[in-house]
Amino acid sequence: MEAHLTVGRAAELAGVTVRTLHHYDRIGLVRPSARTAAGYRAYAAGDVERLREVLAYRRLGFGLREIADLVDDPATDAVARLRRLRALTLEQRDRADAMARAIERELEARAMGVRTTPEEQLRVFGAQLYDAIGSAYPATRRTDPRIAARIWEALGDARTVLNVGAGTGSYEPPDREVTAVEPSAVMRAQRPEGAARCVAASAESLPFADGSFDAAMAVSTVHHWPDAVAGLREMRRVARRVVVFTYDASAPGWLERFWLTRDYLPEFADLLVGWPSLADLTQAIGGRAEPVLVPWDCADGFFEAHWRRPEAYLEDEVRRAVSVWTRVGPEAEQRAVGLLREDLATGRWAERNRDLAALDAAELGLRLLVA
Ligand SMILES: C[S@@+](CC[C@H](N)C(=O)[O-])C[C@H]1O[C@@H](n2cnc3c(N)ncnc32)[C@H](O)[C@@H]1O
Repeated sequence: MEAHLTVGRAAELAGVTVRTLHHYDRIGLVRPSARTAAGYRAYAAGDVERLREVLAYRRLGFGLREIADLVDDPATDAVARLRRLRALTLEQRDRADAMARAIERELEARAMGVRTTPEEQLRVFGAQLYDAIGSAYPATRRTDPRIAARIWEALGDARTVLNVGAGTGSYEPPDREVTAVEPSAVMRAQRPEGAARCVAASAESLPFADGSFDAAMAVSTVHHWPDAVAGLREMRRVARRVVVFTYDASAPGWLERFWLTRDYLPEFADLLVGWPSLADLTQAIGGRAEPVLVPWDCADGFFEAHWRRPEAYLEDEVRRAVSVWTRVGPEAEQRAVGLLREDLATGRWAERNRDLAALDAAELGLRLLVA
Protein backbone atom coordinates (compact mmCIF):
# COMPACT_ATOMS: atom_id res chain seq x y z
CA MET A 1 0.00 0.00 0.00
CA GLU A 2 2.94 2.38 0.49
CA ALA A 3 2.75 3.57 -3.15
CA HIS A 4 -0.81 4.79 -2.58
CA LEU A 5 -1.75 8.12 -1.04
CA THR A 6 -4.97 8.84 0.81
CA VAL A 7 -6.91 11.93 -0.22
CA GLY A 8 -5.84 13.69 2.98
CA ARG A 9 -2.16 12.91 2.49
CA ALA A 10 -2.23 13.89 -1.21
CA ALA A 11 -3.90 17.20 -0.32
CA GLU A 12 -1.36 17.88 2.43
CA LEU A 13 1.62 17.15 0.16
CA ALA A 14 0.26 19.20 -2.73
CA GLY A 15 -0.82 22.11 -0.55
CA VAL A 16 -4.45 22.04 -1.71
CA THR A 17 -7.67 21.30 0.20
CA VAL A 18 -9.33 17.90 0.32
CA ARG A 19 -12.36 19.65 -1.14
CA THR A 20 -10.36 20.56 -4.24
CA LEU A 21 -9.33 16.94 -4.73
CA HIS A 22 -12.90 15.77 -4.27
CA HIS A 23 -13.98 18.30 -6.88
CA TYR A 24 -11.36 17.00 -9.35
CA ASP A 25 -12.65 13.50 -8.64
CA ARG A 26 -16.28 14.51 -9.20
CA ILE A 27 -15.60 16.19 -12.55
CA GLY A 28 -13.44 13.26 -13.68
CA LEU A 29 -10.21 15.24 -13.84
CA VAL A 30 -8.21 13.13 -11.36
CA ARG A 31 -9.89 10.00 -10.03
CA PRO A 32 -8.07 8.08 -7.28
CA SER A 33 -8.08 4.54 -8.63
CA ALA A 34 -6.66 2.59 -5.67
CA ARG A 35 -8.21 1.52 -2.36
CA THR A 36 -6.71 1.59 1.12
CA ALA A 37 -6.88 -1.51 3.33
CA ALA A 38 -9.94 0.03 4.96
CA GLY A 39 -11.59 0.42 1.55
CA TYR A 40 -11.16 4.19 1.12
CA ARG A 41 -10.21 5.61 -2.24
CA ALA A 42 -6.46 6.30 -2.66
CA TYR A 43 -4.17 7.74 -5.31
CA ALA A 44 -2.00 5.22 -7.17
CA ALA A 45 1.29 6.29 -8.77
CA GLY A 46 -0.39 7.05 -12.12
CA ASP A 47 -3.08 9.15 -10.41
CA VAL A 48 -0.40 11.15 -8.61
CA GLU A 49 1.37 11.82 -11.92
CA ARG A 50 -1.86 13.10 -13.38
CA LEU A 51 -2.61 15.18 -10.30
CA ARG A 52 0.86 16.72 -10.48
CA GLU A 53 0.22 17.68 -14.11
CA VAL A 54 -3.20 19.14 -13.33
CA LEU A 55 -1.87 21.20 -10.41
CA ALA A 56 1.04 22.46 -12.49
CA TYR A 57 -1.32 23.66 -15.26
CA ARG A 58 -3.54 25.21 -12.59
CA ARG A 59 -0.61 27.13 -11.22
CA LEU A 60 0.26 28.27 -14.76
CA GLY A 61 -3.19 29.82 -14.94
CA PHE A 62 -5.08 27.33 -17.14
CA GLY A 63 -8.81 26.74 -16.58
CA LEU A 64 -10.07 23.27 -15.57
CA ARG A 65 -11.65 22.62 -18.96
CA GLU A 66 -8.43 23.48 -20.81
CA ILE A 67 -6.50 21.29 -18.39
CA ALA A 68 -8.80 18.35 -19.07
CA ASP A 69 -8.02 18.69 -22.79
CA LEU A 70 -4.30 18.94 -22.12
CA VAL A 71 -3.98 15.95 -19.82
CA ASP A 72 -6.22 13.78 -21.99
CA ASP A 73 -4.49 14.73 -25.22
CA PRO A 74 -4.00 11.41 -26.98
CA ALA A 75 -1.48 13.01 -29.33
CA THR A 76 1.19 13.24 -26.64
CA ASP A 77 2.92 10.72 -24.46
CA ALA A 78 4.07 11.31 -20.87
CA VAL A 79 7.51 12.60 -21.86
CA ALA A 80 6.10 15.00 -24.47
CA ARG A 81 3.60 16.29 -21.90
CA LEU A 82 6.35 16.84 -19.35
CA ARG A 83 8.33 18.73 -21.98
CA ARG A 84 5.36 20.95 -22.73
CA LEU A 85 4.90 21.58 -19.01
CA ARG A 86 8.56 22.41 -18.62
CA ALA A 87 8.44 24.86 -21.53
CA LEU A 88 5.36 26.59 -20.13
CA THR A 89 6.86 26.74 -16.64
CA LEU A 90 10.15 28.17 -17.91
CA GLU A 91 8.20 30.70 -19.94
CA GLN A 92 6.37 31.83 -16.83
CA ARG A 93 9.62 32.07 -14.88
CA ASP A 94 11.25 34.10 -17.65
CA ARG A 95 8.26 36.40 -17.88
CA ALA A 96 8.34 36.93 -14.10
CA ASP A 97 12.11 37.65 -14.27
CA ALA A 98 11.61 40.10 -17.12
CA MET A 99 8.81 41.83 -15.25
CA ALA A 100 10.92 42.11 -12.08
CA ARG A 101 13.78 43.59 -14.11
CA ALA A 102 11.45 46.08 -15.80
CA ILE A 103 10.01 47.15 -12.44
CA GLU A 104 13.54 47.56 -11.05
CA ARG A 105 14.48 49.71 -14.05
CA GLU A 106 11.37 51.82 -13.57
CA LEU A 107 12.12 52.26 -9.84
CA GLU A 108 15.67 53.35 -10.69
CA ALA A 109 14.38 55.74 -13.35
CA ARG A 110 11.82 57.22 -10.94
CA ALA A 111 14.50 57.65 -8.29
CA MET A 112 16.33 59.81 -10.80
CA GLY A 113 13.16 61.71 -11.64
CA VAL A 114 12.67 60.02 -15.07
CA ARG A 115 9.27 58.63 -16.10
CA THR A 116 9.20 55.57 -18.40
CA THR A 117 7.30 55.96 -21.67
CA PRO A 118 3.99 54.13 -22.26
CA GLU A 119 5.84 51.91 -24.82
CA GLU A 120 8.43 50.93 -22.22
CA GLN A 121 5.74 50.12 -19.68
CA LEU A 122 3.92 47.77 -22.06
CA ARG A 123 6.86 46.14 -23.81
CA VAL A 124 7.51 43.75 -20.95
CA PHE A 125 4.20 41.98 -21.65
CA GLY A 126 5.13 41.40 -25.28
CA ALA A 127 6.43 38.20 -26.81
CA GLN A 128 9.43 36.51 -25.31
CA LEU A 129 8.27 33.52 -27.18
CA TYR A 130 11.60 31.98 -28.00
CA ASP A 131 12.69 31.99 -24.38
CA ALA A 132 9.65 29.77 -23.84
CA ILE A 133 9.65 27.47 -26.85
CA GLY A 134 13.29 27.72 -27.94
CA SER A 135 14.44 24.55 -26.16
CA ALA A 136 12.33 22.45 -28.58
CA TYR A 137 13.87 24.17 -31.60
CA PRO A 138 17.00 22.14 -32.42
CA ALA A 139 15.09 18.84 -32.63
CA THR A 140 13.69 19.57 -36.08
CA ARG A 141 15.01 22.97 -37.20
CA ARG A 142 18.13 22.88 -39.28
CA THR A 143 19.62 24.19 -42.52
CA ASP A 144 17.93 22.97 -45.68
CA PRO A 145 20.72 22.87 -48.28
CA ARG A 146 18.53 24.06 -51.18
CA ILE A 147 17.18 27.06 -49.32
CA ALA A 148 20.68 27.76 -47.99
CA ALA A 149 22.02 27.80 -51.56
CA ARG A 150 19.46 30.48 -52.50
CA ILE A 151 20.32 32.62 -49.48
CA TRP A 152 24.07 32.29 -49.93
CA GLU A 153 23.82 33.11 -53.61
CA ALA A 154 21.82 36.24 -52.76
CA LEU A 155 24.56 37.30 -50.33
CA GLY A 156 26.77 37.71 -53.42
CA ASP A 157 30.41 38.38 -52.67
CA ALA A 158 29.75 39.72 -49.15
CA ARG A 159 32.63 38.84 -46.84
CA THR A 160 31.17 40.12 -43.57
CA VAL A 161 27.61 39.05 -42.82
CA LEU A 162 25.24 39.99 -40.00
CA ASN A 163 22.63 37.32 -39.21
CA VAL A 164 19.67 38.95 -37.45
CA GLY A 165 17.30 36.76 -35.38
CA ALA A 166 19.98 34.13 -35.80
CA GLY A 167 18.58 31.49 -33.45
CA THR A 168 20.82 28.45 -33.31
CA GLY A 169 22.70 29.52 -36.44
CA SER A 170 20.93 27.71 -39.29
CA TYR A 171 21.83 29.16 -42.70
CA GLU A 172 24.94 30.98 -41.48
CA PRO A 173 27.37 30.70 -44.39
CA PRO A 174 30.47 28.75 -43.31
CA ASP A 175 32.84 30.57 -45.66
CA ARG A 176 32.25 34.17 -44.51
CA GLU A 177 32.80 36.22 -41.40
CA VAL A 178 29.47 36.05 -39.58
CA THR A 179 28.21 38.07 -36.62
CA ALA A 180 24.91 36.91 -35.16
CA VAL A 181 22.21 38.90 -33.36
CA GLU A 182 19.73 37.02 -31.18
CA PRO A 183 17.54 38.41 -28.36
CA SER A 184 16.55 35.07 -26.76
CA ALA A 185 18.95 33.72 -24.13
CA VAL A 186 17.58 30.21 -24.64
CA MET A 187 18.36 30.35 -28.37
CA ARG A 188 21.81 31.86 -27.83
CA ALA A 189 22.63 29.09 -25.36
CA GLN A 190 21.85 26.46 -27.99
CA ARG A 191 24.24 27.75 -30.63
CA PRO A 192 26.70 24.99 -31.42
CA GLU A 193 30.35 25.01 -30.37
CA GLY A 194 32.38 27.15 -32.72
CA ALA A 195 29.36 29.06 -34.07
CA ALA A 196 29.80 32.71 -35.03
CA ARG A 197 29.90 35.27 -32.22
CA CYS A 198 26.42 36.22 -31.10
CA VAL A 199 25.27 39.58 -29.75
CA ALA A 200 22.20 39.88 -27.51
CA ALA A 201 20.10 42.51 -29.29
CA SER A 202 16.90 43.00 -31.29
CA ALA A 203 16.50 43.80 -34.96
CA GLU A 204 14.78 47.10 -34.25
CA SER A 205 17.84 48.49 -32.54
CA LEU A 206 21.05 46.99 -33.92
CA PRO A 207 24.12 47.98 -31.90
CA PHE A 208 26.30 48.64 -34.97
CA ALA A 209 27.41 51.72 -36.87
CA ASP A 210 26.03 52.49 -40.36
CA GLY A 211 27.47 50.28 -43.09
CA SER A 212 29.33 47.96 -40.67
CA PHE A 213 28.69 44.81 -42.75
CA ASP A 214 28.82 43.80 -46.40
CA ALA A 215 25.46 42.05 -45.98
CA ALA A 216 22.75 41.43 -43.40
CA MET A 217 20.50 38.36 -43.50
CA ALA A 218 17.36 37.38 -41.58
CA VAL A 219 15.81 33.92 -41.88
CA SER A 220 12.34 32.88 -40.64
CA THR A 221 12.37 35.63 -38.06
CA VAL A 222 10.89 38.90 -39.39
CA HIS A 223 7.30 37.84 -38.50
CA HIS A 224 8.38 37.72 -34.82
CA TRP A 225 9.66 41.26 -34.68
CA PRO A 226 7.35 43.72 -32.91
CA ASP A 227 8.19 46.27 -35.63
CA ALA A 228 9.26 44.44 -38.80
CA VAL A 229 9.65 47.56 -40.93
CA ALA A 230 11.85 49.26 -38.30
CA GLY A 231 14.01 46.11 -38.05
CA LEU A 232 14.43 45.88 -41.82
CA ARG A 233 15.40 49.56 -41.99
CA GLU A 234 18.00 48.84 -39.32
CA MET A 235 19.42 45.99 -41.43
CA ARG A 236 19.54 48.34 -44.39
CA ARG A 237 21.34 50.95 -42.26
CA VAL A 238 24.10 48.62 -41.01
CA ALA A 239 24.69 46.64 -44.23
CA ARG A 240 25.12 47.36 -47.92
CA ARG A 241 23.16 44.27 -49.00
CA VAL A 242 20.08 42.76 -47.32
CA VAL A 243 18.68 39.22 -47.72
CA VAL A 244 15.48 38.16 -45.94
CA PHE A 245 13.71 34.80 -46.02
CA THR A 246 10.11 35.36 -45.03
CA TYR A 247 6.45 34.75 -45.73
CA ASP A 248 4.00 36.62 -47.95
CA ALA A 249 0.72 36.95 -46.09
CA SER A 250 -0.62 39.67 -48.37
CA ALA A 251 -1.28 37.68 -51.57
CA PRO A 252 -5.02 37.07 -52.08
CA GLY A 253 -6.14 33.60 -51.03
CA TRP A 254 -2.97 32.91 -49.07
CA LEU A 255 -4.85 31.01 -46.36
CA GLU A 256 -6.06 28.59 -49.06
CA ARG A 257 -2.57 27.95 -50.39
CA PHE A 258 -1.67 25.43 -47.73
CA TRP A 259 -4.07 22.62 -46.79
CA LEU A 260 -3.03 22.89 -43.13
CA THR A 261 -4.27 26.46 -42.73
CA ARG A 262 -7.15 25.96 -45.19
CA ASP A 263 -8.68 22.82 -43.68
CA TYR A 264 -7.38 22.53 -40.14
CA LEU A 265 -5.89 25.70 -38.69
CA PRO A 266 -7.71 28.81 -39.97
CA GLU A 267 -6.61 30.48 -36.68
CA PHE A 268 -3.29 31.06 -38.41
CA ALA A 269 -4.94 34.11 -40.00
CA ASP A 270 -5.33 35.75 -36.57
CA LEU A 271 -1.57 35.64 -36.02
CA LEU A 272 -0.95 37.83 -39.02
CA VAL A 273 -3.44 40.57 -38.29
CA GLY A 274 -1.64 43.87 -38.71
CA TRP A 275 1.35 42.16 -40.31
CA PRO A 276 2.94 44.43 -42.96
CA SER A 277 2.35 43.52 -46.61
CA LEU A 278 5.13 42.08 -48.77
CA ALA A 279 5.26 45.47 -50.51
CA ASP A 280 5.88 47.21 -47.14
CA LEU A 281 8.65 44.74 -46.32
CA THR A 282 10.44 45.00 -49.67
CA GLN A 283 10.07 48.76 -49.59
CA ALA A 284 11.72 48.91 -46.14
CA ILE A 285 14.90 47.46 -47.63
CA GLY A 286 14.41 48.90 -51.12
CA GLY A 287 14.53 45.47 -52.75
CA ARG A 288 12.60 42.82 -54.64
CA ALA A 289 10.85 39.57 -53.66
CA GLU A 290 11.53 36.17 -55.24
CA PRO A 291 9.42 33.06 -54.56
CA VAL A 292 11.12 30.15 -52.78
CA LEU A 293 9.46 26.78 -53.34
CA VAL A 294 9.46 24.37 -50.40
CA PRO A 295 11.04 21.02 -51.34
CA TRP A 296 8.89 17.99 -50.47
CA ASP A 297 11.62 16.66 -48.17
CA CYS A 298 12.63 20.03 -46.68
CA ALA A 299 15.21 19.46 -43.93
CA ASP A 300 14.23 22.54 -41.91
CA GLY A 301 11.03 21.75 -40.00
CA PHE A 302 9.35 25.14 -40.34
CA PHE A 303 5.56 25.41 -40.44
CA GLU A 304 5.11 24.61 -44.14
CA ALA A 305 7.98 22.09 -44.38
CA HIS A 306 5.89 18.92 -44.14
CA TRP A 307 3.30 19.80 -46.78
CA ARG A 308 3.75 16.40 -48.47
CA ARG A 309 4.39 14.49 -45.22
CA PRO A 310 1.17 15.27 -43.29
CA GLU A 311 1.76 12.63 -40.58
CA ALA A 312 4.64 14.77 -39.32
CA TYR A 313 2.17 17.33 -37.95
CA LEU A 314 0.82 14.69 -35.58
CA GLU A 315 4.21 14.61 -33.85
CA ASP A 316 4.57 16.81 -30.82
CA GLU A 317 8.28 17.28 -31.49
CA VAL A 318 7.54 18.73 -34.94
CA ARG A 319 4.90 21.13 -33.63
CA ARG A 320 6.86 22.29 -30.58
CA ALA A 321 9.67 23.60 -32.80
CA VAL A 322 7.24 25.87 -34.71
CA SER A 323 5.94 28.95 -32.91
CA VAL A 324 2.62 28.97 -34.82
CA TRP A 325 1.37 26.03 -32.73
CA THR A 326 2.14 27.75 -29.45
CA ARG A 327 0.69 31.02 -30.63
CA VAL A 328 -2.69 29.64 -31.73
CA GLY A 329 -3.12 28.08 -28.27
CA PRO A 330 -3.69 24.49 -27.10
CA GLU A 331 -7.38 24.39 -28.00
CA ALA A 332 -6.90 25.20 -31.70
CA GLU A 333 -3.82 22.98 -31.83
CA GLN A 334 -5.61 19.96 -30.44
CA ARG A 335 -8.62 20.46 -32.66
CA ALA A 336 -6.47 20.78 -35.79
CA VAL A 337 -4.35 17.75 -34.94
CA GLY A 338 -7.40 15.67 -34.02
CA LEU A 339 -9.12 16.48 -37.33
CA LEU A 340 -5.98 15.80 -39.32
CA ARG A 341 -5.46 12.46 -37.59
CA GLU A 342 -9.01 11.49 -38.44
CA ASP A 343 -8.70 12.56 -42.07
CA LEU A 344 -5.43 10.67 -42.47
CA ALA A 345 -7.00 7.55 -41.03
CA THR A 346 -10.12 7.73 -43.22
CA GLY A 347 -8.23 8.67 -46.39
CA ARG A 348 -10.01 12.03 -46.59
CA TRP A 349 -6.73 13.96 -46.50
CA ALA A 350 -5.29 11.89 -49.36
CA GLU A 351 -8.49 12.34 -51.32
CA ARG A 352 -8.51 16.11 -50.90
CA ASN A 353 -4.82 16.58 -51.59
CA ARG A 354 -4.38 14.08 -54.38
CA ASP A 355 -2.45 16.55 -56.58
CA LEU A 356 0.36 16.97 -54.07
CA ALA A 357 1.81 13.50 -54.56
CA ALA A 358 3.11 14.51 -57.99
CA LEU A 359 4.85 17.67 -56.77
CA ASP A 360 8.49 17.84 -55.68
CA ALA A 361 8.30 21.42 -54.46
CA ALA A 362 5.39 23.67 -53.53
CA GLU A 363 4.72 27.40 -53.70
CA LEU A 364 3.43 28.18 -50.21
CA GLY A 365 4.13 31.88 -50.04
CA LEU A 366 7.75 31.80 -48.91
CA ARG A 367 9.81 34.65 -50.30
CA LEU A 368 13.39 35.78 -50.49
CA LEU A 369 13.65 39.55 -50.28
CA VAL A 370 16.87 40.86 -51.74
CA ALA A 371 18.24 44.37 -51.77
C1 LIG B 1 12.01 30.82 -36.15
S1 LIG B 1 13.44 31.41 -35.31
C2 LIG B 1 14.58 31.51 -36.65
C3 LIG B 1 16.00 31.34 -36.22
C4 LIG B 1 17.02 31.20 -37.35
N1 LIG B 1 17.11 32.42 -38.13
C5 LIG B 1 16.71 30.01 -38.21
O1 LIG B 1 16.50 30.18 -39.41
O2 LIG B 1 16.70 28.91 -37.69
C6 LIG B 1 13.04 33.09 -34.99
C7 LIG B 1 14.07 33.81 -34.17
O3 LIG B 1 13.81 35.21 -34.18
C8 LIG B 1 14.18 35.73 -32.91
N2 LIG B 1 13.54 37.04 -32.67
C9 LIG B 1 12.34 37.30 -32.10
N3 LIG B 1 12.13 38.62 -32.02
C10 LIG B 1 13.22 39.23 -32.55
C11 LIG B 1 13.61 40.59 -32.75
N4 LIG B 1 12.81 41.60 -32.39
N5 LIG B 1 14.82 40.83 -33.31
C12 LIG B 1 15.63 39.83 -33.69
N6 LIG B 1 15.31 38.52 -33.52
C13 LIG B 1 14.12 38.22 -32.97
C14 LIG B 1 13.72 34.65 -31.97
O4 LIG B 1 14.30 34.77 -30.68
C15 LIG B 1 14.13 33.40 -32.72
O5 LIG B 1 15.41 32.96 -32.39
